[in-house]
Amino acid sequence: MPSELLPFFSKYWHYVILGIASYCLVNFLWNRKKKSECENENENDEDIFDKTADEDDLPALPKDLEHISFVYDRPSEEEMKKRSREFYAISNARRTIRFFSPDPVPIGVIHDIIGAAGTAPSGAHTEPWTFVVVSNDKMKAKIREIVEREEQQNYLKRMGKKWTRDLTPLKTNWVKDYLTVAPYLIFVFKQTYGILPDGRKKNHYYHEMSVAIACGVLLTAIQYAGLVTLTSTPLNCGPALRCLLGRPPLEKLCLLLPVGYPAIDATVPNLHRKPLADILVEFT
Ligand SMILES: Cc1cc2nc3c(=O)[nH]c(=O)nc-3n(C[C@H](O)[C@H](O)[C@H](O)COP(=O)(O)O)c2cc1C
Repeated sequence: MPSELLPFFSKYWHYVILGIASYCLVNFLWNRKKKSECENENENDEDIFDKTADEDDLPALPKDLEHISFVYDRPSEEEMKKRSREFYAISNARRTIRFFSPDPVPIGVIHDIIGAAGTAPSGAHTEPWTFVVVSNDKMKAKIREIVEREEQQNYLKRMGKKWTRDLTPLKTNWVKDYLTVAPYLIFVFKQTYGILPDGRKKNHYYHEMSVAIACGVLLTAIQYAGLVTLTSTPLNCGPALRCLLGRPPLEKLCLLLPVGYPAIDATVPNLHRKPLADILVEFT
């Protein structure tokens, strides 16, 4: 220490110590806050909303919302039968694919698929979803690292004998090649509530159901476009992936979908779907 500073320190040493201690404390509290934002994903979303909602929350829709004529082109019964058959055949051909080709897919197709998912109905038209698309190789590698680390713990410790036994016929494990092979990873986040720049909150009614419907549209759009995906819900990875992707704590990760073409030698388990008679109850 320069000798000219010695008198200063000997006179004011307690202020210097106090300053350093305050800096360390603020730094510690800030890091703890960031860490808890990324780890505390066990809270009940509806509870969060109930505690914070109040009369000043922004209404979901404007009071004087205009109503306009609905434009509709009624198909013939023949046309309707043809379309419903076609759509059933397309839906029935969908399979969960776990082996992907690295072949590139035009980004415009991905945008249209997500645009289709964004047409889903939502409680009071709150549209409580965010879709994140990752095609960057470094990001994909980080994502794979996070998912494989957690999945290894899930398979070895958390899922238990019954769950892992039920998954054995599907031949899944914690190694997830597809996360770095598929050209795109789509993440679906549900927004548990909305927040405006002025800090006011917007209730997202039925956000769980609304996002589930959007996911169904997303899967069907992927299938209709001629691509494949794997519906996955990486257990315990939500907070880490949310932080990596820079999404706020009010958003919860629902699905991680690798999207692309199937590998040439891709296989699928030989599963059978319930016949209509087993899933339909009719009163005519
Ligand atoms: C909510 C949900 C979560 C799933 N999570 C996984 C997963 O983490 N890993 C996986 O390999 N498959 C996962 N699957 C895919 C199912 O295993 C698959 O849909 C099921 O075996 C039926 O096969 P199909 O999609 O080919 O009809 C999930 C499916 C759903 C609906």
